[in-house]
Amino acid sequence: MHEDIEKVLIAEEVIEKRLDLIAEKIRIDFANQESLQVVAILKGALVFMADLLRRVPLKLEIECLNVASYHGGTESSGVVDFLDAKLPDVKGRSILLLDDILDTGRTLEAVSKKLIDLGAADVKTCVLLTKDKERPVAVEADYSAFEIGDEFVVGYGLDYDGKYRNLPYVGVLKPSEINL
Ligand code: XMP
Repeated sequence: MHEDIEKVLIAEEVIEKRLDLIAEKIRIDFANQESLQVVAILKGALVFMADLLRRVPLKLEIECLNVASYHGGTESSGVVDFLDAKLPDVKGRSILLLDDILDTGRTLEAVSKKLIDLGAADVKTCVLLTKDKERPVAVEADYSAFEIGDEFVVGYGLDYDGKYRNLPYVGVLKPSEINL
């Protein structure tokens, strides 16, 4: 797997240190909540969710949403599909929404809107990565661990064609590994 990577963009130790800081911010910002409802977007947020939330010493309730916004390639399709038969009960709750990356912003926008439509009182967003680019929708994450350039990345939850999610760092694939 590692031999397919052209360069490591964000090393594991760097991610870990940054997660300590983000977790501390979340702890302070949500300290007044009896329990905080976290909603993580699968599958991309899986690794980020596990590592971040174990650093947050608050009473958390965790739900996951199955959303498809990327359909195998390296370009966002622009279509966000909700794949779960039953969506979580978020009525009246403050939500911390987790995703792996803010790219076009369509996923975070669509999921935030869906949670509000389902009756959530408030939605704050938290991503591992924010791509530095112009977005078709005006979305900013409330918490973002790293800003990266506008290039396709894998690892730490992010996949290419279903693979590389278990890389412990964020990296860029060798062009030879991408089927255009
Ligand atoms: P949008 O464009 O809706 O994208 O903000 C959000 C989802 O698209 C996937 N995505 C990527 N996946 N490398 C990936 O492996 C990338 O560089 C990348 N950019 C976007 C990801 O699933 C994210 O949740």
